[in-house]
Amino acid sequence: MYVFSARIPPSCTIRGEGVCLERDPGFSLIEVAFAVLVPGGKRAGTVVYRNLSRRRRSAEIGIELYPEYRGCGLGPRAIRAFLGYLFDTMRLRRVWLRVLPDNERAIRCYEKCGFRRVGYGKAYLFVPCLVMEITDEEFRGEVRD
Ligand SMILES: CC(C)(COP(=O)(O)OP(=O)(O)OC[C@H]1O[C@@H](n2cnc3c(N)ncnc32)[C@H](O)[C@@H]1OP(=O)(O)O)[C@@H](O)C(=O)NCCC(=O)NCCS
Repeated sequence: MYVFSARIPPSCTIRGEGVCLERDPGFSLIEVAFAVLVPGGKRAGTVVYRNLSRRRRSAEIGIELYPEYRGCGLGPRAIRAFLGYLFDTMRLRRVWLRVLPDNERAIRCYEKCGFRRVGYGKAYLFVPCLVMEITDEEFRGEVRD
């Protein structure tokens, strides 16, 4: 079975949560980027995945909305739509991220999407960061206490 048989095609559109994520054309060895489009087709920011591990079925994600689109709930909707794609289409088991510990809005946004804090790590330039993760079961609400 090809877990990642769907090498992602050059054009790929993810819909859900009232947003549309469209694969950015262009090629990067580091990450795969999607434009976050709001109704009407305007670009509101970017979501990416990187550090894809086929063996572990995991990947890291990142998000950046343009300033005028922040603070109105778009971030959590874009991330949930992205998680749906990563877990359901790419069949990942774990999605993780790094966030600066003082980025309270981003941390709250990730918690609203179901991410848990798992510890501390290093971001680029060795800046200390908080590491958060969510599993496919958690995303689907299959984990019971
Ligand atoms: C982080 C980001 C994706 C969040 O998306 P968003 O659409 O702005 O998020 P929301 O509007 O849903 O706000 C998230 C939560 O943070 C809260 N919040 C907003 N500003 C806050 C602040 N200064 N301190 C603490 N919490 C804050 C909101 O109240 C909301 O929680 P609530 O729904 O329980 O009230 C977006 O703000 C962004 O792109 N920021 C710049 C780039 C960035 O920081 N990326 C993350 C790097 S790891």
